[in-house]
Amino acid sequence: MEKLNTNTIAYYMAEKELPFGEYIMNKTWKDREIDIKTYWEIHRKSLENFEEFWSSIAKELEWFKPWDTIVTADPAPPFYKWFVGGRLNLSYLAVDKHAKGWRKNKLALIWEGEPVDGAGKPLETRKLTYYDLYREVNRVAYMLKHKFGIRKGDRITIYLPMIPELPITMLAAWRIGAITSVVFSGFSADALAERIADAGARMLITADGFWRRGKVVRLKDIADQALEKAGVEKVVVYRRLGLDDVKMSPPRDHWWDDAMGDVPLNAYVEPEQVESEHPSYILYTSGTTGKPKGIVHDTGGWAVHVYATMKWVFDIKDTDVFWCTADIGWVTGHSYVVLGPTIVGATQVMYEGAPDYPQPDRWWSIIERYGVSVFYTSPTAIRMFMRYGEEWVRRHDLSSIRLMHSVGEPINPEAWRWAYKNLGREEVAFGSTWWMTETGGIVISHAPGFYLVPMKAGTNGPPLPGFEADVVDEEGRPVAPGVRGYLVIKRPWPGMLHGIWGDPDRYIKTYWSKFPGMFYAGDYAVKDGDGYIWVLGRADEVLKVAGHRLGTYELESALIEHPAVAEAAVIGIPDEVKGEAPIAYVVLKQGVQPGEALAKELRDHVRKTIGPIAEPAHIFFVTKLPKTRSGKIMRRLLRAVAMNAPLGDVTTLEDEASVEEAKKAYEELRAEIERK
Ligand code: WTA
Repeated sequence: MEKLNTNTIAYYMAEKELPFGEYIMNKTWKDREIDIKTYWEIHRKSLENFEEFWSSIAKELEWFKPWDTIVTADPAPPFYKWFVGGRLNLSYLAVDKHAKGWRKNKLALIWEGEPVDGAGKPLETRKLTYYDLYREVNRVAYMLKHKFGIRKGDRITIYLPMIPELPITMLAAWRIGAITSVVFSGFSADALAERIADAGARMLITADGFWRRGKVVRLKDIADQALEKAGVEKVVVYRRLGLDDVKMSPPRDHWWDDAMGDVPLNAYVEPEQVESEHPSYILYTSGTTGKPKGIVHDTGGWAVHVYATMKWVFDIKDTDVFWCTADIGWVTGHSYVVLGPTIVGATQVMYEGAPDYPQPDRWWSIIERYGVSVFYTSPTAIRMFMRYGEEWVRRHDLSSIRLMHSVGEPINPEAWRWAYKNLGREEVAFGSTWWMTETGGIVISHAPGFYLVPMKAGTNGPPLPGFEADVVDEEGRPVAPGVRGYLVIKRPWPGMLHGIWGDPDRYIKTYWSKFPGMFYAGDYAVKDGDGYIWVLGRADEVLKVAGHRLGTYELESALIEHPAVAEAAVIGIPDEVKGEAPIAYVVLKQGVQPGEALAKELRDHVRKTIGPIAEPAHIFFVTKLPKTRSGKIMRRLLRAVAMNAPLGDVTTLEDEASVEEAKKAYEELRAEIERK
């Protein structure tokens, strides 16, 4: 267990004075800089002419048929539809457009595999031009359509590592109107099975394995376990490693090479002209209760949102080399690896492996090697590199970077300053973009491609033009500066989710019922005197571990599944690197003895059931959990104990001894950490 550190999110969450900080200006971006008053004026105008504002941006994309209505609620709010009547195709926008024009021979993708030689040089790189990408996307679309009979609206589950075939398969699926459901390759067999079943996928596309930190991950073996629980008609397996002992089950399973073998090199598949509101993807994400929700996104609205933010937030130019370090298994990779860079015809870098393999300067060597100019990463990664030390950064020339952003969790000012200085020479534009799986794209951010309001270390900045995000109190009224409230979005936006797959009621209940007429994000936030928003962290039972979203409920269910466990409560505690780390309080079944061995077994069990990212940092064995008289677990009290904070209202607590026990367990751990 890592040393507790109060200088990370704990310090935000403690409701102490907030580190609003001062303006940070820099010379390089001087010509884009405007003061915040001027910005609010622009923002106000964008909302006044809200529909025209979005429609003027949508017009920059190529539509097969223009829309009749910009936005409408159908049948009623909150079921919004964007650009109704319009028809388009994402794969056409991402590849055909460029392959037909001057970008034909421009590099679309620079990919680097993880393995290196003795001198640390990458052993595998692939470079694909827009024309290459166009040909590959067409060939895969041909395979899906003509070999496997995939039709518009069919779901394809994609369980692939970070290799070019992942974005290629997604673009191919969208070409024929199929709906993708990408499952992060770090998720377990159970998680995959659940997602295949919920989406009702016809097909699974996976790989034999991939490299992670010098080790082989045998992905098809995990997929096979999942397929025992959730069936699909067809499985296609890409040979990433060339493992020769992969179990294949004909006639269901096909090697990618075989399936593609007789697809003509110049295969062409007419892009399906889908309706703007046709679903493009489902992405499962964690919520407060129950199993992960399949967030559904449309085609037209999402495309417009992603396109606009590529320009505003990343100021993307044809001379840029863009690198978003997120895995495509998460929403950031969907919007800003697969669609964003391609829709604007940018060159981007994609890397398969671990950031610190074989040494902590792997990322910096990649930036130097390809001259990355726009860099999008996470606070967790920054904090990890902070720990490794600046020496690793200094070994490389990172002067190509001109703009950076972080995403996924709050960035503590200390980490922001470190990155600004060590990666950005104190002269890049650098912000923290707030958004979530449900929003489909960035909502609150600095937008140097548009106008740059002064930066501040750790803020998210004002909402982007066209987005009415705000911080409100329990009654839905805007809060005064410095007062903590809930983050909401007060009117529909183009990239917004189109519901939860198969569960319209849950969509309404989760997002639109806490504050009628407003989208509830589930985050705590404050505004400062300039109206900049500072997102503090989740207001619900959702954790952000290394930027990955996990529900405490999922972790608890995984623990309870273990035969030794009677009850479990999971909370997040501040972690110096990962932002938050899950810890679990476990009540064992009668007769079961607690101990180190069992704690390890339970941690492994969670790894196996959800995935390595979910492993609890610590397990406490207790005899009871703090509960209300009606039996609800009071995680709030466990959190207070862990943070050494006041307990607050305990009138509903059934048994105070439970809190004492949690305190004692936590103090023992603290003492142990200090001894070490
Ligand atoms: C958190 C990730 C602070 C927030 C794109 C949100 C952030 C959740 C930021 C969504 C940021 C994301 N500053 N917090 N810049 N970006 N978050 O769905 O709690 O994986 O609700 O989407 O991440 O996580 P998700």
